[in-house]
Amino acid sequence: MNKDVKRVTVHTLRRMKEAGEKISMLTAYDYSFATILDEAGIDVLLVGDSASNVMAGHETTLPITLDQMIYHASSVIRAIKRALIVVDLPFGTYQGNSKKALSSAIRIMKESGAHAVKLEGGQSVQESIKRILKAGVPVMGHLGLIPQSIYKFGTYVVRAKEKEEAEQLKKDAKLLESIGCFAIVLEKIPSELAAEVAASVKIPVIGIGAGSSVDGQVLVTHDLLGITKAFKPRFLRRYLDLYTDIKLAVQSYRDDVKGRNFPDESEQY
Ligand code: KIV
Repeated sequence: MNKDVKRVTVHTLRRMKEAGEKISMLTAYDYSFATILDEAGIDVLLVGDSASNVMAGHETTLPITLDQMIYHASSVIRAIKRALIVVDLPFGTYQGNSKKALSSAIRIMKESGAHAVKLEGGQSVQESIKRILKAGVPVMGHLGLIPQSIYKFGTYVVRAKEKEEAEQLKKDAKLLESIGCFAIVLEKIPSELAAEVAASVKIPVIGIGAGSSVDGQVLVTHDLLGITKAFKPRFLRRYLDLYTDIKLAVQSYRDDVKGRNFPDESEQY
């Protein structure tokens, strides 16, 4: 561990919330990107199960396996000096069986060296969360749009617009705090509701499509960089159009090879 760099821990995040300092979080799935994001000062890197979409090209997050998540997490862990690394428990590794949940979380922590796990849901997965926490593994919750339940919802539209679902979400957030989660992700819910939840709990609330009144923001890195093209939700701010830039660069390379312009004299031995 580099002694000059102060590592971000779950306690750092809590202090940031108390001090009113916003938390930055992005997804990372590999060593090269994680190196850049960590050096850029991102507080939390999430090895998200969105790797299923972004890295593997699946339509949903459901197919990614525990072994694959551990592979991605290990690559990220080797890169970082400062950020807190949170890893998603993939679909089917924690729901309905708290012993299985614990063994999945332990595999992630032991085999990748990650610092915490994240899982989706509130009341319905509380036994799993409690068992993981009891083993000393920090847990981040995830409420609102929970992509592992896409076939239950049927669509990726904004969640908790109706009173009943909003009330349940508020209860779930309080429950996650009371059983010991260190933070909660709120995905794609009305900003007013997100603000209310963030104000009602002491643990940090990180939003994605949840407005500006939460304690931090998370985005999928490939979306922010414009590497993914088709995904255009309203909450996404694209900082680059890397899809186009990379394509142009690669086309130039192809043209140079075909036109015998690469390599030139200075690029050979
Ligand atoms: O898997 C993921 O990328 C996520 C974020 C969208 C929060 O869970």
